[in-house]
Amino acid sequence: MRRTFSFVPFVVAFIVLTGTPAKVKEITHREATPATRVEIEAGAKPSEVLLPEPGKTGPLSLEEAIAKRRSVREFKDDPVRLIELSQLLWAAQGITGEDGFKRAAPSAGAKYPLEIFVVAGRVDGLTSGIYHYEPDSHSLTAVKLGDFREELCGEALGQKWVEEASLSIVIAAVYERTMEKYGERGVRYVHMEVGFVAENIYLQTESLALGTTFVGAFSDGGVKKLLKMDGMEPLGIMPVGVKQQ
Ligand SMILES: Cc1cc2nc3c(=O)[nH]c(=O)nc-3n(C[C@H](O)[C@H](O)[C@H](O)COP(=O)(O)O)c2cc1C
Repeated sequence: MRRTFSFVPFVVAFIVLTGTPAKVKEITHREATPATRVEIEAGAKPSEVLLPEPGKTGPLSLEEAIAKRRSVREFKDDPVRLIELSQLLWAAQGITGEDGFKRAAPSAGAKYPLEIFVVAGRVDGLTSGIYHYEPDSHSLTAVKLGDFREELCGEALGQKWVEEASLSIVIAAVYERTMEKYGERGVRYVHMEVGFVAENIYLQTESLALGTTFVGAFSDGGVKKLLKMDGMEPLGIMPVGVKQQ
């Protein structure tokens, strides 16, 4: 039998790890878009990007963050930094329990049905692409590389803030994890959990002087196809960028 050898995982790992970090002031929307699009082959070892350690203190009190939170739909061209993305993902689904299991947002029966994706287009220190967040290792694995914000915007009925934001966090759910224990009632628990995660992201963006909006209007099938989701349903898109003051 002839053995085949695929270079794709190595090429992807190289691009992800050496992706030219964006320079804050010089960057423009177009310059930040790499031309290369790389599909990750099914079964290929995923390329992993370890995220910087998130902080546990911040400049804004919880009360100030709640008071200032608004849905933001206009963003500057400045990129979001990798440390900020790390902080947002930690707030969404990061492991916070000393047992190494429990997460930042509550979950019925600690079943953790939610999966988090990032569609990154202008993140300083991260190659543009679609990534899946791994809470256990606080890392990202690449789904595909390239700037897919325009396509995501198309799937979100052309809401332009999805294309203009530096990145979008996409919240998806594997309903069975919760329904196994709670039956039909599990559906409402999953939807409640999306709300907890989204509010954590809203408050964390406020604390980082970034902005976001929860977007619920999108094509389920289109988002699933674009993000190569298998066995899960997309439930929310949160475009994130540096907000206009
Ligand atoms: C479930 C849900 C779905 C939403 N969907 C969208 C959306 O598709 N597009 C959008 O621009 N805003 C969307 N929003 C944001 C609301 O428009 C916004 O929260 C509301 O106007 C109140 O403003 P505030 O968030 O600034 O307080 C959604 C909010 C929620 C809670």
